[in-house]
Amino acid sequence: MASNMGFVEWQGSFELGYQPLDDSRKFLVESLNDLSRALNSEDYSQGARLSLRFINAARRHFAREEDVLEVIEFPGREDHKAYHGRLITTAENLEKLCLDDPDPEDVNRGFLGLMNMLLDDVIQGDQDFRDYLPKE
Ligand SMILES: [Fe+2]
Repeated sequence: MASNMGFVEWQGSFELGYQPLDDSRKFLVESLNDLSRALNSEDYSQGARLSLRFINAARRHFAREEDVLEVIEFPGREDHKAYHGRLITTAENLEKLCLDDPDPEDVNRGFLGLMNMLLDDVIQGDQDFRDYLPKE
């Protein structure tokens, strides 16, 4: 059965109004959509490659974001950092699911878990520090 994975449409309301972070947040959402497309066509080797591309982009972005959170002394920075760590682990698990004899349902579940985590970060978690960011 072909699975039908979701897509995330970038909304203006997701933006923090702080370009050094917004560009890479948007790129992460686009990378997730590319991954979704590959998994929808059950191209799991491409799925593994795009999972890795997502992981690398997420690591770079989260490191930059966490540096900013330090500088602005956002009180919730430790929890936010821990959430980033769990998101990376979820993405690494998905990459593994794509690599060894992929089961479409497991991959589907893994992808949805990752998508929900990214949405939680972008829609909820990141908005919590919006007011602490320097105004451009
Ligand atoms: Fe974040």
